[in-house]
Amino acid sequence: MKDIVTTEFKARYGEDPTFIIRAPGRVNIIGEHTDYNDGFVLPMAINRAVWVALRPRKDATVKVYSVNFESEESFDLNDFSHTDAGWIEYVKGVSWALLQDGYALSGWEGVLAGDVPGGAGLSSSAALELAVGRAFEAVAGETWDGTKLALAGQNAENNWVGANTGIMDQMISANGEAGHALFIDCRSLDTELVPLPEGTCIVVMDTSTRHSHVDGEYNERRAQCEAAASAFNVKALRDVSVADFNAKAAILEPLTQQRARHVVTENERTVAAANAMKAGDVAALGQLMNASHVSMRDDFEISSTALDKMVEIAQAQPNCYGARMTGGGFAGCAVALVDVGAAEGFVAAVAPAYKEATGLKPALYVCDATDGARLIED
Ligand code: GLA
Repeated sequence: MKDIVTTEFKARYGEDPTFIIRAPGRVNIIGEHTDYNDGFVLPMAINRAVWVALRPRKDATVKVYSVNFESEESFDLNDFSHTDAGWIEYVKGVSWALLQDGYALSGWEGVLAGDVPGGAGLSSSAALELAVGRAFEAVAGETWDGTKLALAGQNAENNWVGANTGIMDQMISANGEAGHALFIDCRSLDTELVPLPEGTCIVVMDTSTRHSHVDGEYNERRAQCEAAASAFNVKALRDVSVADFNAKAAILEPLTQQRARHVVTENERTVAAANAMKAGDVAALGQLMNASHVSMRDDFEISSTALDKMVEIAQAQPNCYGARMTGGGFAGCAVALVDVGAAEGFVAAVAPAYKEATGLKPALYVCDATDGARLIED
């Protein structure tokens, strides 16, 4: 990817780029649909990322060529508005959010390219947002706080692009570190790096399915969670323990009860998973992932036939500690915790078994946990 953006930059501008930025996608190990409930998540940044090669401009123009979309777009930082909804809206949205937060922005031009598959639940949009944030930081010659950039990315996504998502994806793309998952308290935004257990690796399993009405389902789940929190008279479901929930669940109508049970138990599982990871207890971590999948499938109802099949096949492999669907749901990816020595055999067994069962050709990636969005210096 670095070569791709550098070569394209040179072809367009006849010189090397001044700055190269890399911002990763992510996979969530556990803690799903908990972020907008002020709860806990445990994602890691992966070795698939958005890259931007750029040089500063003397004026207030931002001009970007996307290698993936084979298109060039530009706008003036002093005067820009929405056009049609394409990738450039993320660039504009981050500019808008940073300006709102009082950052002084100046123009730049460059080339974007990425290898985070879109719509797969690996946060290609958060990676793009953080790449743009760090691009403006590099041009300003300053050091900007990762969490503030994450919040600006979320603001762009919520209020410019119009997707009502939580803070997890931007936080991990901003603040990830190699070899670690990141335990995030989505209320305080405190983070803790948790080393991946020795001898294991994370495998992302793309079902090759995509869902087109995710926004409506996502917003509906959010509304159900908010209704449950208000019935319990708390700010967010984060404030309800499993014991509280069990004592008071009957006040909720059955569907809201199911949704709330997922969030309340998922928060508890996520805290337990971070502790299991710290203790190197891979068996416990795997069991928590398996239980998370059941909760998403049966209570939150965000899985799909393809995701369930992928998870079932993964869980049946020797040396797989646990597996679950990951991300917003309905389609996209599942994630498995696998013995590092068995990873190749795992991929070689799961891919054909999934294809045989569904007729779909999956993509499996053995993932490294990588650093968050930053300037690449060499
Ligand atoms: C999407 C959103 C996140 C989070 C997950 C579900 O990835 O962008 O904020 O809510 O879904 O855990």
